[in-house]
Amino acid sequence: MKQTYRIAVIPGDGIGPEVVDQGLRVLERVAERFEFGLDLERFPFSTEHWLASGEIFPDPAFQQVQQMDAVLLGAIGDPRAPVGQMERGIIGRLRWDLDLFVNLRPIKLLDERFCPLKGKGPAQIDMMVVRENTEDAYVQKPVFEDQGGPEEVASQAMLYTRKGTERVIRYAFEMAKSRPRRHLTLIDKANAVRAQDLYTRVFAMVAKEYPEVETAHLYVDAACMRMIESPESIDTAVTTNLFGDIITDLGAMLQGGMGIAASANLHPGKVSLFESVHGSFPQAAGKNIANPLATINAVALMLDYLGEKQASVAVEGAVTQLLQSPQLKSLEVGVHKTDELGDLVLAGL
Ligand code: IPM
Ligand code: MN
Repeated sequence: MKQTYRIAVIPGDGIGPEVVDQGLRVLERVAERFEFGLDLERFPFSTEHWLASGEIFPDPAFQQVQQMDAVLLGAIGDPRAPVGQMERGIIGRLRWDLDLFVNLRPIKLLDERFCPLKGKGPAQIDMMVVRENTEDAYVQKPVFEDQGGPEEVASQAMLYTRKGTERVIRYAFEMAKSRPRRHLTLIDKANAVRAQDLYTRVFAMVAKEYPEVETAHLYVDAACMRMIESPESIDTAVTTNLFGDIITDLGAMLQGGMGIAASANLHPGKVSLFESVHGSFPQAAGKNIANPLATINAVALMLDYLGEKQASVAVEGAVTQLLQSPQLKSLEVGVHKTDELGDLVLAGL
């Protein structure tokens, strides 16, 4: 019997709708070719929708999403809304309330010409960052005492739990074990943020169960340096939410920029969220100049998660082929049109 996947689609703000359109073209094409069904449900949640209706992400819609197999998200963020309101209300809510504890961010250079580092090529840049996705300062309440006053104190805790730490570290060991190099680096800042000693201890404990995985440790500042100086020294990496956010923007630049970096927000076995690493790029909205490859790569991650391995490999292959082809002149914004890149991926399929 033909399998049908229920997918929530949230195009969101800025360039989100345009890049999601291209992602859906690719998704629909592989569904036909690999013979699976799609039951797509579009949700309007975005800054525009909030301005018009006052709604950010209402509970009934959230409950509907919980019943689905996956969520494909464009981008969220718009200067017309208070800072962080939409990001936290939509992306944050999905990550936290769906308990998507893994934010998986591949950093893979596919063609040397897209790497800003001298003398580094695809053989040197192939990392898999496992970012914790449900804890850390992200989910803590900001506290402002004497707000605006001369004695103001502002705080937001970096809080980690044993359970939250252990599950993401276990996932990372499994990921490292499944990759050819079987190498896992813990990235933290336990020398300054002593609370991260929890990561140090749990990592050492879980490592004992994985003798086949070689381990390494880097403080996050040194990790940034290494990613530039010797990116080949990092294969799989596991890190906290905030540091994972920061180092994956750096990683995105190593692989060719924000236009192609994708991420999977996962809770294995449950509805999971797939999105680009980039933001909503409001200045480019509606101009057909944004790069849809990040969203198309997110579609590949989604297909893999859903168990449609062949379809996932086909999409990844088409993107790889395109990035390695002279047809793709540059990844600079505006060189290729959004729908033109979608056409090129479809042609490769
Ligand atoms: C990301 C984004 C988000 C984050 C923002 C939009 C809240 O930068 O997915 O990396 O910080 O996690
Ligand atoms: Mn980010």
